[in-house]
Amino acid sequence: MKKIVSLFAVLVLFFAMFISCKKKNKEDTQVSYTPSCSSSTPSFSATVKPLIQSACVNCHSEYSTYTQISSSSSSIRSSIVSGSMPKGTTLSEGQKNSIVCWIDAGKPNN
Ligand code: HEC
Repeated sequence: MKKIVSLFAVLVLFFAMFISCKKKNKEDTQVSYTPSCSSSTPSFSATVKPLIQSACVNCHSEYSTYTQISSSSSSIRSSIVSGSMPKGTTLSEGQKNSIVCWIDAGKPNN
């Protein structure tokens, strides 16, 4: 009986360590970000496209055209807001705002 109790205690400890580790990793890599959009919509051709071109297309050739970006916009948006993308680098708050606010404005081909 004692053996079972201590085995259980070790299991609980191990599980607790695993969970706390996971939480820490998340806090380290994902910085919280809240979009702040002004009334003027960012331009797709002048701002959003060049930004995605330089920050994402190295790894995601599927984000090259307006149609591709537009149809993937909800996953692009959530990956930027969560901070999971761009992998390996980060965008400035202003750069995130340009992409996210353009998506929130209805993805105009402007
Ligand atoms: C250095 C390479 C690299 C760059 C740069 C990069 N990605 Fe990714 N992306 C990946 C890989 C690899 C995956 C596969 C899932 C993973 O490993 O997280 C991925 C997955 C994704 C996904 C799928 C969902 C998710 O969050 O896992 C989306 C959406 C995405 N990337 C969007 C973007 C956007 C938008 C940018 C630019 C702002 C970007 N990525 C820049 C490598 C990259």
